[in-house]
Amino acid sequence: SSSPSQCSYDDYKETADWLLENTKQRPKVAIICGSGLGGLADLLDDKNVFPYKGIPRFPTSTVPGHAGQLVFGKLRGRECVCMQGRFHFYEGYNIHMVTYPVRVFFLLGVETLLVTNAAGGLNGSYSVGDIMLIKDHINMPGFAGQNPLCGHNDERFGVRFPCMSDAYDHQLMALAKQTAEEQDCDGFLQEGVYCMLAGPTYETIAECRVLQILGADAVGMSTVPEVVVARHCGLRVLGLSLITNKVVTDYDSNEKANHEEVLKTTQRRTEDLQRLVSHLITKI
Ligand code: 6GU
Repeated sequence: SSSPSQCSYDDYKETADWLLENTKQRPKVAIICGSGLGGLADLLDDKNVFPYKGIPRFPTSTVPGHAGQLVFGKLRGRECVCMQGRFHFYEGYNIHMVTYPVRVFFLLGVETLLVTNAAGGLNGSYSVGDIMLIKDHINMPGFAGQNPLCGHNDERFGVRFPCMSDAYDHQLMALAKQTAEEQDCDGFLQEGVYCMLAGPTYETIAECRVLQILGADAVGMSTVPEVVVARHCGLRVLGLSLITNKVVTDYDSNEKANHEEVLKTTQRRTEDLQRLVSHLITKI
C-alpha cells in the first residue's frame, strides 16, 4: 500500500521554487556533510544560508553537532550547495523525509551529489583516520522494507525499478583518487563497500562478524537512502566515508564503540577531507 508519509512532486517543487526565488546561485553540485564534517560549508565564499526551519516543507534537524542549514556558495570558485547536517533515520524521520533534500537538489538543477559520512571500519586492513571511497553499498534497511523508493513512483523523478549496480560513478572515483594523490591524501585512501544499518545502536560483536562475512568494509547509519534517491533521479554520486573507529569483533577486547571517538577522529581528519573535497569539486 502507498504510504501517507510520502511527499508529492508539488511538495519538492514548492521547496525548490522557494530556494530558486531566494538565491541567485544555480549549483550543479550538492554536498551532504556527515557528522562533524559540516566545517566544509563554512569555507564557502559568497554564502547564502538557509536554516532548515525556514525552508518551506523542509524537515528540521534535532541532533547537536548538526547545524541544520542549507549553504549555497562557492568552493574554490565552484558553485555548490551544502547540507550542513543531514537527516538520519534513527532520529525518527521516516525514510522519505531522510531523502527529501535530494529531490529538491534535483529540481534545483543539481547533477552531481557528493556524500560524506563517519563510519566504523570492518575491513581488518583499514586504520582509524582512513578515508574510504565508496564503491558499492549494502542497503540493510532496504532488506527490511525501509527503501526510500517504496510507495508510489512518480516518473518525473525516475523509473519504478532503478538499477543500483552503477550507483557510484567510476569517473568521479577516478577523479577522487587523482585528487587524493595531488593533495597527499593517498597514503590513507581506501576503496570499499559501505553498509548502512538503521542505528542508533552500534553493532554487537556477532553483528560485526555478519557484516564482514557479507563483504562490507565499513558500517554507518546514513548515506544509502540519499544515494538510492539520487540515482533514481539520475544524479551522479560520489561517496566518502571517514573511518572514525574500528569495530569490535573480539569477545576479549575491552574497546567499545562510542560517539566521542567518532568525533575525535573527525576533528583530526576534517581538514584533509575538506581539502580533498574542495579540490575535487573544481575538477567536476
Ligand atoms: Cl562502529 N557503527 C555504525 N553503525 N556507525 C558508525 C560507526 C560504527 N562508527 C561511526 N559511525
